[in-house]
Amino acid sequence: MRVISHVVMGGLVAGFVVATTPLQAQQNERLAKAVAEMERLDALRSGLAATFEQTGAPADQAAFGQVCKPVGLAMQQGAKEHGWIARQVAVKFRNPANQADAEAVRLMQQFQRDTSLRGMMLRTTMDGRSGIRYVRRITVERSCLACHSEMNKRPEFIKQNYPLDRAFGFRAGELRGLYSVFIPDAGR
Ligand code: HEC
Repeated sequence: MRVISHVVMGGLVAGFVVATTPLQAQQNERLAKAVAEMERLDALRSGLAATFEQTGAPADQAAFGQVCKPVGLAMQQGAKEHGWIARQVAVKFRNPANQADAEAVRLMQQFQRDTSLRGMMLRTTMDGRSGIRYVRRITVERSCLACHSEMNKRPEFIKQNYPLDRAFGFRAGELRGLYSVFIPDAGR
């Protein structure tokens, strides 16, 4: 894998948004869209979790429907709309569909080591296609802990619905996972 650029601020792709051909211009536009969309989804979850915490509502299935579920659905919807492959990936995953692939595991280690790293782009292949993968940090906040802290404190619905759950034992500020968007090269 080849790292192309580190994204310091959402929406700012340093040294990258320099179009030379129409195909590249198209690719850059899709990348910028992916970066903006992941910022939007992260802010969305953050806001939803904060609201959930403030209301003091129980951390049940309905609460999940108001916090992480809409984010997962929006990821899928965006992917369909833009032709991306988009996932949330985690080493300590809750939904096995979100288990980090080998490349994502390595990237997560990099994000663990470098806590100032917010997002990154790299040239890679996925499902036999070449393209660019954008990954962005997901950080645990206090408002997440109702569902992602100690194993024994997990809400009942989580114990029942996620027998393979590993997404517990987190503390605020820790790396929870990555948003991952793969954008296949244009014209392929
Ligand atoms: C009301 C409970 C609840 C709260 C609060 C909550 N989550 Fe989740 N979270 C879940 C459930 C349930 C899933 C499994 C989603 C699925 O089935 O795909 C999940 C999945 C995730 C995933 C997808 C990766 C995986 O492990 O499957 C991430 C990332 C995540 N949560 C981050 C957060 C963050 C960050 C916060 C706080 C800002 C938060 N969650 C708050 C219940 C919650």
